[in-house]
Amino acid sequence: MNTSSVAPLPIVILISGRGSNLQAIIDRTAAGELPVEIRAVISNRPSAAGLQLAGKAGLETRVIDHTGYADRETFDEALQACIDSYQPALVVLAGFMRILTPGFVEHYRGRMLNIHPSLLPDFPGLNTHQRALDAGHREVGASVHFVTEDTDGGPVLMQARVAVREDDTADSLAARVLEQEHCMYPLAIRWFAEQRLRLDSTGQAVLDGERLTEPVLLTPQSGATC
Ligand code: GRF
Repeated sequence: MNTSSVAPLPIVILISGRGSNLQAIIDRTAAGELPVEIRAVISNRPSAAGLQLAGKAGLETRVIDHTGYADRETFDEALQACIDSYQPALVVLAGFMRILTPGFVEHYRGRMLNIHPSLLPDFPGLNTHQRALDAGHREVGASVHFVTEDTDGGPVLMQARVAVREDDTADSLAARVLEQEHCMYPLAIRWFAEQRLRLDSTGQAVLDGERLTEPVLLTPQSGATC
């Protein structure tokens, strides 16, 4: 879908590593399918491979190295100052591996999204696919949610599900889930940019004026497809 009639939403993307979700957002934007202006890509790790991807796409990159700060508060203050200098309407966490302080989260309430590789509320935190396998789950997936103080615990707005096969490993599952992430995250960001999606004053996700009682599933039936 071409979205040229919608004013591009200024966004800042935070990464810590590989940057494949970042690349998906870059690609969809370049294809005219995502009405955003990526004002900067910020990493807390100087070696994050995603910084090279951003550079190749001609985007502004910044590094705020967390190891140079005494504590979470001072790091988050520096990060916030850097983000705010770009005046984004949305902050996109794309593999940003930091626990955020309450003040930082509050500052971006309703305008910060994260993608997590599990069917939340199952498996917040790390090693999600191995934990799902160990627990005998037959289905895994990924979730896009608004960020709240509760790490990986904010209201989930979209999910993609992937069936577990007999011979799956954590790596093979991660690869199939990642494909879904690359479809789902740009779509969720597009809905936010089109003002279809917001967080209401009670902390619930709202889509097209209706409170989401459960996440939208990435399926043709739900209208959420790539
Ligand atoms: C993704 O699996 C994402 O769900 C999680 O971190 C990973 C980031 O991968 N939050 P990439 O850096 O986007 O390739």
